[in-house]
Amino acid sequence: MLSFTGSRSFAIDLGNNNTLLTDKEKILLSEPSYIVFNDNHSVKAVGEEAYSIFEKSHDALHPVKPLRGGVIADYQSAGKMIRMLVDKVYSTGFLSKGFDTIITGVPYHTTQVERRAFRDALDQFNSRKTNLLFEPLAAAIGMDLDIREPEGKLLVDIGGGITEVVVISLSGVASFQSLKVAGDTFDEVIRDYFRKQHNLLIGARTAEQVKKTIGGVSAALKNAPLPMLVKGKSLAEGIPMSVEIRYEELVPVLDKPFSEIEAGIIHTLQHCPPELAADIYKSGVYVTGGSALLHGVKERLERTTSLPVHIDAHSLTSVSRGISKALRDPKYYQGVLIEA
Ligand SMILES: Nc1ncnc2c1ncn2[C@@H]1O[C@H](COP(=O)(O)OP(=O)(O)OP(=O)(O)O)[C@@H](O)[C@H]1O
Ligand SMILES: [Mg+2]
Repeated sequence: MLSFTGSRSFAIDLGNNNTLLTDKEKILLSEPSYIVFNDNHSVKAVGEEAYSIFEKSHDALHPVKPLRGGVIADYQSAGKMIRMLVDKVYSTGFLSKGFDTIITGVPYHTTQVERRAFRDALDQFNSRKTNLLFEPLAAAIGMDLDIREPEGKLLVDIGGGITEVVVISLSGVASFQSLKVAGDTFDEVIRDYFRKQHNLLIGARTAEQVKKTIGGVSAALKNAPLPMLVKGKSLAEGIPMSVEIRYEELVPVLDKPFSEIEAGIIHTLQHCPPELAADIYKSGVYVTGGSALLHGVKERLERTTSLPVHIDAHSLTSVSRGISKALRDPKYYQGVLIEA
């Protein structure tokens, strides 16, 4: 048991890469959204442990990442993964009594069927009420932005599987763009680059580590990170090999996916009503999600949008902070809570 909570309600940010559980006050658990099954369908590992063995398994193990592009792609595995993670927080006795309210984040640009999948995955918990909250709105609440006022705000959530760009006003979304370009895409282009440019095969976890350590989107950067030694397997000889990579070398590699995100921001601005555009001209762009932590995001977006850019200081937790606040004060946030 990681922690105990007396609250009969919880909130979940079931992300493409990370799942966070919160109650009304605090984060109860944060683990990677991964699960590994044994041959007989029993669970070998979940969360952090599953991520650590993900690309190191053998034929008798079946690793699954249940979400793709920010939505549930494997229903059964998602349901099982959530169950195992919730079990880490609550005792069986506590769970058997059921819950008062569960709130789950869902991406804004989702179909009814995709939203239903999130709700169905939570049905197993016997909750009196289940609410959905759109993730970009939750992120804005988590960043302490007043989403109810008429002043428009531009929020960009760059997660693992999806990037959502929204203009928020009066508790609603006035303009948006949703892109399946996010953290996973950055990892893929890094893997591709090492294979093609350096004849080095690297795993997805190594690619992610490289990105987190020296990945950036702005060439001219003060305090750029130091070069990094990347270990993998030689494409030609099949033996272990390492290559040193500099920050500047990776910037053009990440440029294409990041340019798509940038284009999404510009498109959203172009399609938002003029009064809201005038507000955003003053307030600027709010950026959150784990991929907001890439080096140079602020510098680059300030250059391309000519707007002030605010990077969330706790980008990995904005959605769960927001849904936790909504759990605390459902009356105040009733305009954005959707009955599931
Ligand atoms: N320091 C960092 N630099 C760059 N990327 C990072 C850093 N830390 C985390 N990330 C990336 O952030 C992504 C995860 O972010 P986040 O937890 O916001 O996504 P998610 O909520 O799981 O996914 P989604 O919102 O798409 O459903 C991963 O791709 C991860 O590699
Ligand atoms: Mg997210």
